[in-house]
Parts: sequence; C-alpha cells; structure tokens
Amino acid sequence: MRTTESTPFLFFLLLLSCSRPQLAAAAPSDPTPARWPEQFHSLMYMNVSAAGKLYIVDLWYDWPNGRNFNIMQQQLSDVLYDLEWDNGTSFYYTLGPQGSCLPRRFPVGIPRPDFLQEGATYLGRVTTDGFLCDLWVKLDFIWYYEDVATKRPVRWDFFDGISQHVMTFEVGAVLDDPHWQAPGYCFPQDEKAGAGDGEGSPGREVESDLSGFAGALRRLSLLNRGSSPAHLFESTQLAGFSK
Ligand SMILES: *[C@@H]1O[C@H](CO)[C@@H](O)[C@H](O)[C@H]1NC(C)=O
Ligand SMILES: *[C@@H]1O[C@H](CO)[C@@H](O)[C@H](O)[C@H]1NC(C)=O
Repeated sequence: MRTTESTPFLFFLLLLSCSRPQLAAAAPSDPTPARWPEQFHSLMYMNVSAAGKLYIVDLWYDWPNGRNFNIMQQQLSDVLYDLEWDNGTSFYYTLGPQGSCLPRRFPVGIPRPDFLQEGATYLGRVTTDGFLCDLWVKLDFIWYYEDVATKRPVRWDFFDGISQHVMTFEVGAVLDDPHWQAPGYCFPQDEKAGAGDGEGSPGREVESDLSGFAGALRRLSLLNRGSSPAHLFESTQLAGFSK
C-alpha cells in the first residue's frame, strides 16, 4: 500500500516544483502581491489629504464584465458616482434634482487583476492599520499593503497623499446589472434629460467636485502592464478632465 501511495505523491511534488520556474528564478524570497479576485466588493475609507477631504468609497470591481464602479460618499456632502467601462468610457455623475454627468474617454480601461504583479518592488513587512502586511512600491507611484495572513489588500497610498484603507473585502460579490446604467443625462442625444447643448453645462458641478481628484480614480488602471512610467504621471495630472 505504502509504495503505491508514495509514487503519485512524489509525482505531485515534481509537478509542483516544475510548475513554478519563474518564481524560483526571479527572487525566491520576495513575495508578490496577490492577483485581485476577478469580482469583489469593497468598502474603503479614502483620505485625500492634499484636498483635506474624506470619502467612503463603495467599490464594485467586475473584471469579467469589463466594469468598475466607485460610489463615493464625501463627508457630509454629495455622493459621486464614477462608473468605468473597460472599453474606455467613464461616467462621472451625481443623482437627484441637481444631478449632472460628465462622460469621459479613458482608453486604458479598468485595472487588470494583475496590475501589480509586474514591476512592484518588495519593501518588507510592516504593521499598518493594525495588520501585519507585506509592502510593495511600484514606480514610486503606489505603496500597496497586503495582509500577510489572508493576502487581502489592507491599504494603498499614492505618491501625492491619497490613501485608501480597505474596510470590507467581499470576494465574488457582484452588483446587479440595473445599477450599472448611467442616468439619461449622461447621453447627450437623450434630449428629455436636459443634457443641455454642447459645452457641458450639466457636467460643470460634477467637474468642480471631482477636479484634481478624478485622476486618482483611474490611477490603478494606469498601472496596467504596458503603461509607461512617463504616461503614468502625466495622465494622473491630465485626468483632471481635459477633454
Ligand atoms: C489624512 O491624511 C493625513 C496625511 O497623512 C493625516 O495627517 C490625517 O491625519 C489623515 N486624516 C484622517 C482623518 O485620516
Ligand atoms: C462602452 O460601454 C458602455 C456601456 O455599455 C457604453 O455606454 C459606452 O457607449 C461604450 N463606449 C464605447 C466607446 O463603445
């Protein structure tokens, strides 16, 4: 009995050791950030320290459907909706009687699940928000903290003082389709919605709420494989809504 059992086990070990050649070759001791789950829901506490503003961000990441949604409650203020499609279209809008919308093109799409797995430098273990974390930096642009015990993200910080703290992380949670429908006034040809005529009167309010900050929302996408560092910093600044 023993001999027949040990043969498959050895074979399994062999398979394991053969299936990870790159990891072993690259840096045997340095961990890499976990891939993002293809679908998850996360509540985040976001501190935009440069603007002195705090947000609760309700994030729905949905890679298989090519969409990503940040619903942002600014402290004692409006809820801002940032709906991103992987085809490059984004809608920034508010709801209610004063609701307004700012559609934007953002060709790089939404963050890939592996947006951190190439080019991140491991900085070691630190405790943050009360969790023992592995910490990486990528391109001096993002510092990413991942819980050692569960591999869940705990926090990430950007170079310019925006910091996001992960409060919940529900793997596999998906927001129902109807919630992904942007309001009618996001579509200029939709006349009844009072989208105005051209130069974006409906967008102005949202624009002032989001300006200087919208770039933050697409930053993770800019870390996708293939984005150059120059492009990264440049777009972060430009993303404050130049047409
Ligand atoms: C926001 O971030 C700044 C800069 O790190 C920090 O000084 C401040 O205490 C933070 N505020 C809150 C409420 O987290
Ligand atoms: C991308 O997809 C969204 C949702 O289906 C759609 O509203 C938008 O027009 C599309 N953009 C492009 C450039 O096809």
